Amino acid sequence: MAVLEVNNLKAYFFIEAGAVKAVDDVTFALERGETLGLAGESGCGKSTTAFALLNLLPYPGRIVDGEVLLDGEDLTKKEPDEMRKIRWDEISMVFQGAMNALNPVLRIGDQIVEAIILHENITTDEAYRKMEDILEVVGVDPTRATNYPHEFSGGMKQRVMIAMALVTEPKVLIADEPTTALDVTVEAQVLKLLQSLQAKFQLSVILITHDLATIAEACDRVAIMYAGQIVELADVVSIFKERLHPYTEGLIRSVPSLLGTEKLVHIPGAPPGLVTPPSGCRFHPRCPIATDICVNQEPKFQEIKEKHFVACHHADQLWGKNVWK
Ligand SMILES: Nc1ncnc2c1ncn2[C@@H]1O[C@H](COP(=O)(O)OP(=O)(O)OP(=O)(O)O)[C@@H](O)[C@H]1O
Ligand code: SF4
Ligand SMILES: [Mg+2]
Repeated sequence: MAVLEVNNLKAYFFIEAGAVKAVDDVTFALERGETLGLAGESGCGKSTTAFALLNLLPYPGRIVDGEVLLDGEDLTKKEPDEMRKIRWDEISMVFQGAMNALNPVLRIGDQIVEAIILHENITTDEAYRKMEDILEVVGVDPTRATNYPHEFSGGMKQRVMIAMALVTEPKVLIADEPTTALDVTVEAQVLKLLQSLQAKFQLSVILITHDLATIAEACDRVAIMYAGQIVELADVVSIFKERLHPYTEGLIRSVPSLLGTEKLVHIPGAPPGLVTPPSGCRFHPRCPIATDICVNQEPKFQEIKEKHFVACHHADQLWGKNVWK
């Protein structure tokens, strides 16, 4: 059974120009113990999806429709007090750029202890012991707990952020670009850490990244987001071997390491503004095979092959073809 079910979720930012439809009818499920990747270009709504799952949208954003069922309970209906308890205890997040959010004037260990005491009814001594244990689990020597953030490297700070997110042993962890600011070797170490923690804590993980190589390395399934919507969702092997959406095809073909010597693709243009997104299929202004129906009618997000969902009018014609030649 899925631990998290997201149904027709819509989260908008209400600005002077109108509603920014950052998450616009998103549906997916997160299975117990799996890692689901959420990928797509900048501004496609990945972080907003994460904030909406935690019912933590910054002003002027709010959830306007849909459900977020955590073990069957709809988080969108929870009062702020109830949500504060669920957040972190049951569903936790490593925020985008979070390692720079550590308090520079507090020792690392004290910051973790503060988080523990906020969420658990235990003594300060017990919280310090727990802090040392969790530092060990994420591969930071507990004797470094008395250090300040500036004495840590980027990779170590990110480990500390992961420790903080996991210290309450949540069921679901959302990691928003956890490795983007790190160099390649440290990135690999942090990914490995996430994978080992997942097995240890039976975690279900949503891994947000614009980096498809990271997805290939670390995820079981992947959802590709474009302009506030999921356009393709399947297991990682299917996505890399027989993707069905031209956008996915373009993204994969734009990463040198994924396709070896084949000619690289540059998807023209940029993702659209989301106050008035393009009519029909939102990708049509950039799609090399768009037809009239694409301009006039929004494609349904549907299961085209077993457990392979896609929103494209011409998906059935795409199998195995490179539409970006
Ligand atoms: N506080 C806000 N107020 C208004 N619009 C916002 C706000 N935060 C995000 N948006 C808009 O919502 C859309 C989705 O943004 P989001 O940050 O979710 O994208 P993302 O996929 O996480 O991008 P990135 O890869 O750059 O992190 C964008 O059009 C963005 O401009
Ligand atoms: S629906 Fe049309 S425009 Fe959209 S991705 Fe498919 S072919 Fe391209
Ligand atoms: Mg983001």
